[in-house]
Amino acid sequence: MPGRNHLYVPGPTNIPDAILSAMHVPSEDHRAPDFPTLVKPILENLKKVFRTEAGQTFIFPATGTAGWEIALTNTLSPGDKVLSYRFGQFSHLWIDLAKRLGLDVEYEEVPWGQGVPLDRLEARLKADTDHEIKAVLICHNETATGVTSDLPGVRRALDAAGHPAMFFVDGVSSIASLDFRLDEWGIDISLAGSQKGFMLPAGLALLAFSPKALEARKTAQCRRAFLDIQDHIVSNADGYFPYTPSIPLLHGLRKALELLLEEGLENVYARHARLGEGVRRAVAAWGLKTCAQEPKWHSNSVTAIVVPEGFDARDVIHVAYHRYNLSLGAGLSEVAGKVFRIGHLGDLNELSLASAIVGAELALLDVGVPLTPGSGIAAAGAYWRETAPAITPRG
Ligand SMILES: Cc1ncc(COP(=O)(O)O)c(C=O)c1O
Repeated sequence: MPGRNHLYVPGPTNIPDAILSAMHVPSEDHRAPDFPTLVKPILENLKKVFRTEAGQTFIFPATGTAGWEIALTNTLSPGDKVLSYRFGQFSHLWIDLAKRLGLDVEYEEVPWGQGVPLDRLEARLKADTDHEIKAVLICHNETATGVTSDLPGVRRALDAAGHPAMFFVDGVSSIASLDFRLDEWGIDISLAGSQKGFMLPAGLALLAFSPKALEARKTAQCRRAFLDIQDHIVSNADGYFPYTPSIPLLHGLRKALELLLEEGLENVYARHARLGEGVRRAVAAWGLKTCAQEPKWHSNSVTAIVVPEGFDARDVIHVAYHRYNLSLGAGLSEVAGKVFRIGHLGDLNELSLASAIVGAELALLDVGVPLTPGSGIAAAGAYWRETAPAITPRG
């Protein structure tokens, strides 16, 4: 099909040309004496994006899923109790992985479209007077439903209960897009993947550990080998990796971090918030609902849109792809066929995102969903115009 594919799945996201060019490098000797000049600043800049000064960052040649395993196996022992909430495909998969690792996983089923129930979390932590719960696992941004949970609220619940459990966060579709602060929010481990807010291909699991999580490693009995952070602690200290790193991805990551820090993290968060609100205005103008049940759960990196009764979201996605060269995110597992998703994270602006809104609207019309043509982009555009940043007057 002529023209570029309009990629609006919630990851992998569009890769800016500057990152594509940065990754176009010949092979290098990863044991060369000057290799640390590439690695050390990347690990430091990564700390800025995770918002940690006290913690330590890690880069594994892996994906977000391995990040879950790195967090758990490096800090816990088989049979340790962890507490979690299941409200979408990714919170589900982390729970499943924790069970498979031999942890004692206690979790609550939460309706898909809601996030962490803070009152019940606090009550559960208060009831755990023997402090059997060793870690609380929270999926910050449930990519399957477009729901963001309140991480400072989780920290407050832990503090209100005076509970010493570690606080682990899946930040795969939030870090580098949504407000996230490891030190300030007392998070012990957070993990991300390279293919979302970091605007890279998949292939890197990016993590930050707090001093408390680093300490927990010393007594953690879960078996680990390739995913042991200890080998990284030793090699990274000198600016190397314990095995052969993906050099093009490291060059890409260096550029991605530069772009994020140049824009300024607060500006990155504000851009995502403003663009995400535009999508939600479009959805409301179509007369449709988001899967996120309340505004407090709205995600600024992905919106899951519920199709009306009698329609199948898979048809919308099919038409969008085959007729308009637009890739929308599918509904996963429990919400398959009920929702389609627009990913609005990474390298995007009003006009690039407008293609997703217009394309989704055309596909909805094509499958017969009754809505006013043009209403979505009119609503998003009106909001973006109202909130447009000032520009320098023409000289
Ligand atoms: C919130 C969340 N966690 C974890 C994952 C799994 O990451 P990966 O596919 O990189 O293994 C994803 C993937 O989309 C995700 O959205």
